Amino acid sequence: GGEGHIHDHQFSFEGPFGTYDQEQLRRGLKVYTEICAACHGLKFVPLRTLSDEGGPHYSKAEVRAYASDNFEVWDPELLDGEGDFRPATPTDHFPDVTGAGAPDLSLMAKARAGFHGPYGTGLAQLFQGMGGAEYIYSILTGYTGEEKEEAGTIFYENTAFPGGWISMAPPLYGEDVDFDDGHDNSLHHIAEDTASFLMWTAEPKMMARKQAGLTGVVFLVLLSVLLYLTNKRIWGPVK
Ligand code: HEM
Repeated sequence: GGEGHIHDHQFSFEGPFGTYDQEQLRRGLKVYTEICAACHGLKFVPLRTLSDEGGPHYSKAEVRAYASDNFEVWDPELLDGEGDFRPATPTDHFPDVTGAGAPDLSLMAKARAGFHGPYGTGLAQLFQGMGGAEYIYSILTGYTGEEKEEAGTIFYENTAFPGGWISMAPPLYGEDVDFDDGHDNSLHHIAEDTASFLMWTAEPKMMARKQAGLTGVVFLVLLSVLLYLTNKRIWGPVK
């Protein structure tokens, strides 16, 4: 019982200068599309953001093709107001998928914390970050292979899931997806790419935020120097 085991992990987006790795986000999108999207939605993520700089940064044409090739949305205005399905466009969001009872993944990387202690102080988060991406990575790689059935539901033992038993069957085994860039698709890598992609869906503006923070710090340092010199000049004659 209790909290699961989450190992710290170096992601490209960590630290004050961290950035998303565009190729990694593209690989993670492919894993989501081919595997996770069967059960999990990303209903808060607009498809058009796949062309954002700092994100997967696909061209507008690529995003249009991706949207219409992979998703259908219900459009209530079609057929004279009767409604019908049509291929998705960049102005739609990723679909809301609820059939399997699986939670939406849009914000999962921010909704879960990988690190807590010691002793409930949360100090670990100060040094290691919140650990949402680590949590997702650890869920995907934390299956022990043990199963049990309870009240008609099968649970799978997972060392990262709080309580130790999750109702999601292992979604990845390694070599589940072939990457367009030829990248290693062993379980470790595929899980890392998926976790990075889901960090981006939860915090698409992280890079802009860090940039603004850095600019602020530079300005404050400059201001401090000027104030110091001003102070010297004003009080110089008195000393
Ligand atoms: C739960 C990720 C594929 C069904 C979860 C959770 C995550 C996750 C992070 C939440 C754990 C929590 O609440 O803390 C993924 C990823 C997938 C994937 C990244 C693709 C690589 C699937 C597939 C299915 C599925 C294909 C259905 C066949 C579920 C269900 C839960 C769940 C039912 C709720 C489990 C519970 O609360 O016991 N998934 N999932 N997932 N997933 Fe997935």
